[in-house]
Amino acid sequence: MAMGSGEAEELTVGQLAARSGLSISALHFYERQGLIHSRRTSGNQRRYPRSILRRVAVIKAAHRAGIPLATVADAFELLPHDGVPTQQDWGRLSRAWRTEIDERIARLEHLRDRLDGCIACGCLSLSTCSLVNPQDRLGASGASALEP
Ligand code: FES
Repeated sequence: MAMGSGEAEELTVGQLAARSGLSISALHFYERQGLIHSRRTSGNQRRYPRSILRRVAVIKAAHRAGIPLATVADAFELLPHDGVPTQQDWGRLSRAWRTEIDERIARLEHLRDRLDGCIACGCLSLSTCSLVNPQDRLGASGASALEP
């Protein structure tokens, strides 16, 4: 595809998909979510600045780490440099998300440890199983949903 000189720095959605390893539908989804932006040509085709590759890289890394897209979108809102994450931006974001991941790991480890007891038990009691009723809500109210 031939592009004019001003368009040489832009990517089509197909080129962005090829460069990023994402599907075109995923890129459209991220655009609908406001994570990436394009301009439209006179023929209504999307064109992305090459710098979008850095945003897509952050989106991919965050997705693999289980960071919600809304969190990524919030982070992008705060980025200077036209929303293109620099190396320093990525360092700051990844440090913040590491804390979130550590907290999630701790919660999952806690759940896993409680699950060990359930594997041997099997009661699924809404009043006594610490997995089903982690804050003992039913016990605190004196009610039980399924038990007499
Ligand atoms: S299944 Fe019995 S305590 Fe969870």
